[in-house]
Amino acid sequence: TVEETLVLIKPDGVARNLTGEILARIEAKGYQLVDLKLVQPDRELLSQHYAEHEGKPFYAPLLEFMESGPVVAIRLAGNRVIEGFRSLAGTTDPTTAAPGTIRGDLGRDWGLAVQQNLVHGSDSVETAQRELALWFD
Ligand code: CMP
Repeated sequence: TVEETLVLIKPDGVARNLTGEILARIEAKGYQLVDLKLVQPDRELLSQHYAEHEGKPFYAPLLEFMESGPVVAIRLAGNRVIEGFRSLAGTTDPTTAAPGTIRGDLGRDWGLAVQQNLVHGSDSVETAQRELALWFD
């Protein structure tokens, strides 16, 4: 079934000029860019987006990192795109993410308190709806 998901190119991806490389992988896979924008997220948006991580040790560094620069927000569509984009992205830790994935090929550990892992993708239909409502319209 056709799904929509929220993809973010995080501040590290934008700052490292990997936006084109990451978009190329998404487009080559065949998913549809429905909407796309460059955003400077504020604390309010980020605290809602990351509400489930409140209280975790990486929460404060995560918000600080995510507000450190512009982010590319993408509304992405396709059959099973939620699962498909997460597969393209690779696992959370870029050090061990499989080669061939965005995080595995382009990410690494920079010795920081937060994992800078280039991209975000919604993890379920419910999360995707909630996150798309936060970042778009
Ligand atoms: P993401 O899965 O998009 O959303 C939560 C983010 O928190 C995650 O990407 C990483 O950037 C970061 N993160 C998750 N787990 C850890 C961890 N154990 N240590 C540091 N950062 C983390």
